[in-house]
Amino acid sequence: MKPVIFSHGEKGGVGKSTVAALMCDALIFRGEKRIAIVDGDGTTDDVTRRYGAHAASSAIIGLADPSEKERAINKLVDYIEQVHLDVDAIVVNLPATASETVDPEAEIIRHALEDLDLELRIVYSASNNTVAFEALKQSFENGLAQACEKRLALAPAFLRDDGLLERLKKVVPDAAEFERLPADTYALIQQHATIPMYHLALGNHPDALKSPIQRIRISGWTQRGIKTLAPVLEDLMGGGE
Ligand SMILES: Nc1ncnc2c1ncn2[C@@H]1O[C@H](COP(=O)(O)OP(=O)(O)OP(=O)(O)O)[C@@H](O)[C@H]1O
Ligand SMILES: [Mg+2]
Repeated sequence: MKPVIFSHGEKGGVGKSTVAALMCDALIFRGEKRIAIVDGDGTTDDVTRRYGAHAASSAIIGLADPSEKERAINKLVDYIEQVHLDVDAIVVNLPATASETVDPEAEIIRHALEDLDLELRIVYSASNNTVAFEALKQSFENGLAQACEKRLALAPAFLRDDGLLERLKKVVPDAAEFERLPADTYALIQQHATIPMYHLALGNHPDALKSPIQRIRISGWTQRGIKTLAPVLEDLMGGGE
């Protein structure tokens, strides 16, 4: 079954786009998969901007506004219906408010994907903020994350909250830690790109990462990141059909 993989996470800046980008790296550049990318917010459409040219298809579908959620879900399902036959996987980068727009419509999304013979998968980036943590719990108990088998909750190490992984494991036993990117490499990427996206490590932009040490660090980080996401990506990796 072809997967539709959501990068979810309540609150801005928890790493949703970073995780979605890593999945694009894993699928497009390593496995040479044909993928479709959806950015769920036109104001933070960083993944389609960075990876859109390498994707078989890409779209921005506004999933951020709770008052427009039905229309947005219809658009998302329409888009998936249009592209699914031409791609190997669909990556959806959700906005910070998806607990109010996408989670309440989880059943509809699940049925729509089932009808198309598609499989729902989720990577959820947690936050130490109480409201955001509750949103994660909700998603795993009755929201989008509840509706699928291949799901992973991440404790982003860059939030500097040592207790987050332990608390998360009480809700999602197989939660994993998402590693901090080496600071010097991160600063360099920010200088040279509008957004921190990681296939720079694979040599597409040799001018952006000049030092061998930085290149090696980021490529190591990318490999470990992809390994962390393995429970959700594993069977998609490595070559064609
Ligand atoms: N692995 C990491 N190590 C260090 N910092 C990181 C890492 N991942 C993300 N960040 C930091 O967090 C910021 C936000 O990351 P990202 O854009 O992926 O979050 P987001 O959840 O998509 O945010 P938004 O809700 O605004 O779209 C980055 O600009 C960077 O500063
Ligand atoms: Mg984002």
